[in-house]
Amino acid sequence: MAEFVPVCPFDLVIFGGTGDLSRRKLLPALFHRFLDDQIPENSRIIGTSRTELSAADFATVAYDACKAATNPEIWSDESWEAFASMLDYQALDISADAEAWKPLAEKIKGSGHITIYYLAMSPSLYVKTCHGLAEAGLVWDDSRIVLEKPIGKDLASATEINDGVGEVFNEDQIYRIDHYLGKETVQNLMVLRFSNVLFEPLWSRHHIDHVQITVSEDLGLEGRAGYYDGSGALRDMVQNHLLQLLCLIAMEPPNSIEADEIRTEKIKVLRALKPLDAETARRNTVRGQYVQGLVKNKAVRGYLEELGDDASSTETFVAIKAEIDNWRWAGVPFYLRTGKRMSRRNSEVVIHFKPVAHSIFGPQANEANQLVIKLQPDEAVRLFLHIKEPGPGGLRIKSLPLNLSYAENFMLRYPDAYERLLMEVARGNLSLFMRRDEVESAWKWVDGIVAAWEENQTKPDDYTAGADGPLAAAMLMDRDDRAWRKPGTSK
Ligand code: BG6
Repeated sequence: MAEFVPVCPFDLVIFGGTGDLSRRKLLPALFHRFLDDQIPENSRIIGTSRTELSAADFATVAYDACKAATNPEIWSDESWEAFASMLDYQALDISADAEAWKPLAEKIKGSGHITIYYLAMSPSLYVKTCHGLAEAGLVWDDSRIVLEKPIGKDLASATEINDGVGEVFNEDQIYRIDHYLGKETVQNLMVLRFSNVLFEPLWSRHHIDHVQITVSEDLGLEGRAGYYDGSGALRDMVQNHLLQLLCLIAMEPPNSIEADEIRTEKIKVLRALKPLDAETARRNTVRGQYVQGLVKNKAVRGYLEELGDDASSTETFVAIKAEIDNWRWAGVPFYLRTGKRMSRRNSEVVIHFKPVAHSIFGPQANEANQLVIKLQPDEAVRLFLHIKEPGPGGLRIKSLPLNLSYAENFMLRYPDAYERLLMEVARGNLSLFMRRDEVESAWKWVDGIVAAWEENQTKPDDYTAGADGPLAAAMLMDRDDRAWRKPGTSK
């Protein structure tokens, strides 16, 4: 059984402590780890925001959030009381002068604990908050800062944030979150590739025809219209989650699982991504925006109606044919797609191998092997192989999966990605977080696509909510004689 790596007592200050991320993700994640006995009891969780609240009021906010997110079977009033005794609150206007920071400083100075500052607030406030911390004398060797995505909205703004935060914190104190890196199945990508002897000899242009990465959602705006409309699917999902998945699939084996070894390999992939210009973006990218339709048999409004603004040309879907210019991957397309209000929630990576060089069984065995890595839901690894269908009636060949389903093999509760990420910050393990050059390289590639769209004045194509993107997304593959895998099939 794997050993649990202990955590030293910490003080975690959540800026934006009463906000959506804190209530939906951070507080429940901390409570679950507390239930699992992984948070030292003298640690403290201090919420802060502009709102004047007492510690008891904050505990009520936290109670509602944790109760709603916890399975009643594992809820315990006694554990809640113990967890609540770790909670505290301090109102703070971060734009006010140094005097305003004093009450927070008094709470955390001299505790001897690791201090973690979690910025669950607008990125436009990151630099100001870091400077406020420095001026209040709250930055020391073992303090850490956690930055939520998005880090900027393009390379220039990301660089500005990274520079500003870097004036106060060293790079090894900065934890940039991409919550996909905290998901079990995403972590499994490296284990699958680098702890099995089977894959590495096949993992290149010699045996792989193409790779598909899909992250589809059935949800729409979920009350985030203000943020989302200024961002769109490319910035919201591709710049971070999809490119991180691409890196984990495409990177060279790192020398070890040390944070910088992994991050150095990932960044080489980002730097090798072929830039898209106006001409290549016209052929190799698709923008889409959903119009009203049926999702899981329920009528839903179109993006513009949901937004209340019929002039928006923000994309809610994007598909890209990406190429990696290096020896391993030259000529192997990576097809990426992500969107809201698609037919289902489904994140998966499909490694589509080349067919055998010469099929002695004729066309029926022409279909290539596929490795399908289902990230969510129904987490699984499926390797589709050819086998002979038993029984009379001639030699019939079928493609069937070796099916490694998580649900069938592990009876564990699925921890939310934030649980792992928060504990890794407390442990000081940077391997699941993005280094500054990673974020900036990803923006550089994405900025090229945005510029190409602007130059081409590319408007998003409509797609009906509940469909898998606009027709052009299917054509992107069809043109290359390929097709997106349909979930639940071998195709
Ligand atoms: C977030 C995006 O980073 O990831 C959201 O901002 C998106 O728009 C979410 O819905 C998807 O995360 P998950 O874990 O539900 O796949």
